Amino acid sequence: MTDMNPDDSASFSRPDECRVTSLHLNLDVDFVSRTLCGFVDLAVKRMKDGVHNLILDAQMIPIKKILDVDYGQELKFTLGENSAIFGSKLEVQLPVSASKCSHKIRVHYETSPQCPALQWLRPEQTLGKRHPYLFSQSQAIHARSLFPCQDTPGNKVSYTAKITAPKDITILMSAIRSEPEPHPSDGGKLVYQFEQKFPVCTYLIAIVGGDLVSSIVGPRSKVWTEREMIEEAAYEFSETEKTLQIAESLMGPYIWGQYDVLVLPPIFPFGGMENPCLTYVTPTLIAGDKSLVDILAHEICHSWTGNLVTNKNWEHFWLNEGHTEFIERKVTGRLHNNKTLPQFMAAGKAVELKEIIEEVLKNGPYTRMIPDLKGVDPNDAFCIVPYEKGFTLLFYLETLLGGREVFEKFLRAYVENFKQQSIDSNQWKDFLYSYFHDKTEVLDSVEWEKWFYGQGMPPVMPKYDNSFAVPCKQLCQRWSTSADNDLDQFDSSDLTSMAPLQVVECLGLLVEDPPLSLIKIQKMNELYKLNVTKNSEFKFRWLRLCIKAQWKEAIPKVLEFINEQGRMRLVRTLYRDLYGWEDARPTAIDNFKKHRGEMHHILETMLSTDLKLG
Ligand SMILES: *[C@@H]1O[C@H](CO)[C@@H](O)[C@H](O)[C@H]1NC(C)=O
Ligand SMILES: *[C@@H]1O[C@H](CO)[C@@H](O)[C@H](O)[C@H]1NC(C)=O
Ligand SMILES: [Zn+2]
Repeated sequence: MTDMNPDDSASFSRPDECRVTSLHLNLDVDFVSRTLCGFVDLAVKRMKDGVHNLILDAQMIPIKKILDVDYGQELKFTLGENSAIFGSKLEVQLPVSASKCSHKIRVHYETSPQCPALQWLRPEQTLGKRHPYLFSQSQAIHARSLFPCQDTPGNKVSYTAKITAPKDITILMSAIRSEPEPHPSDGGKLVYQFEQKFPVCTYLIAIVGGDLVSSIVGPRSKVWTEREMIEEAAYEFSETEKTLQIAESLMGPYIWGQYDVLVLPPIFPFGGMENPCLTYVTPTLIAGDKSLVDILAHEICHSWTGNLVTNKNWEHFWLNEGHTEFIERKVTGRLHNNKTLPQFMAAGKAVELKEIIEEVLKNGPYTRMIPDLKGVDPNDAFCIVPYEKGFTLLFYLETLLGGREVFEKFLRAYVENFKQQSIDSNQWKDFLYSYFHDKTEVLDSVEWEKWFYGQGMPPVMPKYDNSFAVPCKQLCQRWSTSADNDLDQFDSSDLTSMAPLQVVECLGLLVEDPPLSLIKIQKMNELYKLNVTKNSEFKFRWLRLCIKAQWKEAIPKVLEFINEQGRMRLVRTLYRDLYGWEDARPTAIDNFKKHRGEMHHILETMLSTDLKLG
């Protein structure tokens, strides 16, 4: 595409010329037509003399008219050619009042029923089966299909919203919510008001509507979900406040006020999403024993790295995710009062990183920490690399620059210095050099070019303290090397004596090893009852083992698991495994064709590429 923002190749908008500073959404949620209809007010500020147009991103948004709010006059606009990935450039002619550099404009519009940011569910697709459901997911570049906006993480806006919805539906947003009021003229509807007073990137503006209830789990936290799951959800996330406090002790005060958790329907494609004031999580985290809530620590840490300090475009995504992984592991270690835990978690992910970089991405261009995303949908490049290469760099620097205490102070200073801004890797690096100005020589020894732009594995892989993994390695070794007629040495207590993270590690190691014989796989199932586990991470790795061993009887279990939830990481990997097993490939393709209509479109798109269906 030509004509893109020079600082963000995924956006047409030009906040450097004329910037949206805040916005107000006034929308009516219509589940019948599957649209949000109303208007958005944009407060805009001219940043350069001689600029007469406001440039926005818009995708699939039929625009009815655009008004100057102060004078009521209609404004001319042009909608550029449509790109399937980036939508269109929307250019609005600002009123010619030479003296004014601020304006408020109103865009009347409605979203399309195919809006890529919105997932509409029929009542049958929810747990309760009584009411429809709606949730948005805008990261990376879908906010432009929710409302016309400057959809680049290089710009931040504060926002308010007034949302009208049927009275059986509860509306939530990534903002502070007031109690709903009855609609003045329509008894069947309620009106909700929201305010997010801190500036946020458009990808963090989120809306949810459903038959939701909440349970208080802390002084500033509620867990929201459908009634059918509220007790389990409240139990699983009961340590939210404790986790928040540990994160605050590392990173400084949590500024956003409320911290709520929303457990979404199984179709939600990610583990979590850090929408301010309202973290989204997948229901696959509910294991019944709080063993998978590390993702909550991750989303909490985004309150600083990601939501306060943000990557200025999607090429620098590692600034969001690498820092968040790094801080998340520190928080998790403190939460479990175990200093070696962070390195154990890192070591496990390093194995996964190697598999993805070498086997899946074949050391290609997306294995760069800072990839080139010109002309590319940032979601297509989404993978583990920015998370784990970013983490590895920070871990390496921490060791190099004097250890935990020194480096944790740096992290806090980094957030303090760049809060409410959007930055790139060079700004990060310049700050690192100025903060450690007495360690320039050490910093110069870092191979920056390779770290930032090199393909393949990171230039330095730290030696993690992996004592936590010793029992996992031993058990894995025993399974791999024992003879098929010597399986009596195994016992159901092999796994029950381990911490859940160790079980995950152990099964993960077995996945990396050569396939096990069918006799071993069956014995393992019998002993460890992995076919009935509630822990989605155990089950995921177990099913991978079964596929690797080409155990045909496990195929229905695999299909059941990939059809009952839509978490991208789990589903894509299992489809990939099935695809790689020739006998199972047709089944995988048939299953995809049968279920694609019910999938989240992000997952559907990725799978159709993975399965080479175009
Ligand atoms: C951390 O946990 C592991 C596994 O449970 C244990 O072996 C180790 O001793 C613990 N370390 C500390 C410092 O508690
Ligand atoms: C799980 O596996 C065990 C032992 O192989 C078997 O007896 C049981 O029926 C299986 N359960 C389910 C729900 O598939
Ligand atoms: Zn994240």
